[in-house]
Amino acid sequence: MISTQAATCGSVVSKRASAQLLKTFNGLNTTNIGFRPTFIVARQLQSIPAGRQHFSSTSSSSSITEFFPKKETEKVRRTEAAWPHPVYTPEQMAAVTVAHREAKSYSDKVALLAVKVLRFGLDVATGYKHDKAVKLNKSDPAAATMKYSMNEQKYMIRNVFLESVAGVPGMVAGMLRHLHSMRRMKRDNGWIETLLEESYNERMHLLVFLKMTEPGLFMRLMVLGAQGVWFNALFFAYLISPRTAHRFVGYLEEEAVITYTRQIDDIDAGRLPKWEKMEAPEIAIDYWKMPEGHRTMRDLLLYIRADESKHREVNHTFGNLNQKEDPNPYASEYKNHEKPHPTKDLTHMRPTGWERNDVI
Ligand SMILES: [Fe+2]
Ligand SMILES: [Fe+2]
Repeated sequence: MISTQAATCGSVVSKRASAQLLKTFNGLNTTNIGFRPTFIVARQLQSIPAGRQHFSSTSSSSSITEFFPKKETEKVRRTEAAWPHPVYTPEQMAAVTVAHREAKSYSDKVALLAVKVLRFGLDVATGYKHDKAVKLNKSDPAAATMKYSMNEQKYMIRNVFLESVAGVPGMVAGMLRHLHSMRRMKRDNGWIETLLEESYNERMHLLVFLKMTEPGLFMRLMVLGAQGVWFNALFFAYLISPRTAHRFVGYLEEEAVITYTRQIDDIDAGRLPKWEKMEAPEIAIDYWKMPEGHRTMRDLLLYIRADESKHREVNHTFGNLNQKEDPNPYASEYKNHEKPHPTKDLTHMRPTGWERNDVI
């Protein structure tokens, strides 16, 4: 499927091969995926011999035409991540679970409803029918693939689109708090960095997925349009009610944890054979400091899911706080170190967020 292989075999797939692949793609996907061929490029569909690395990112593949090649200059050797990622242990990541915070207040309910509407719309647009696919897969795997097509390509399309919009809320919130602090000549109490770091982390998710796939013109237009609408909607929502906006992102991240949990479960159940032996790209290994022996596609999804669970916790916690006065619990030093408190890593997980009384 996705491949460095396409690039290694020659920087450009021959016209004849491309035509054949597109023909295959059309044939395969008019029922399966429901997207135009330009949504993902033809080279994704090339099969790779077993045992070959599926992603390009290593220096040994210097001849590969990469989607976004490494920048190399005369003097700069490498550019480190501005926000080093905290280290997660395999046990901590395995302990991440699907969770839901009950909507108590009126604003919680508005936030939850908005997420449900968005989720429904996206499911329809991307033909995402996970439950139906799993159910039918038990009795007739071939029919499940034909009808609902829960496959690697479809998940990848969804992941790229979702990650391309996921990096917006933290940036909008961070930007508005930054401007607010300067305009009102007041301290921000440490929220801005966590919000910007969240959007940076989401962009890293996107960059990692872009090492595995190359979006076509249709996908690019979708992302362009979605970003324009999404940024402005969040901008006004955050001005009107930052608390509701954080709750909304908290619920959105609940859905992200569900989506990645399903992908991990599908790998374990053998429904995503192309991902089973895939290795994580170098950009991911560097960013998460993935240890030897834990660098597969499944491991990568565990890291990303853990990040989403942290966003879920952070935004639900922010939604519980006084937006103007309270310090950021994730950037604070606590008087009592023994008592569990919010952290940047997964030491003390609180999936539905920390209540204000527990942390302030
Ligand atoms: Fe993400
Ligand atoms: Fe997220």
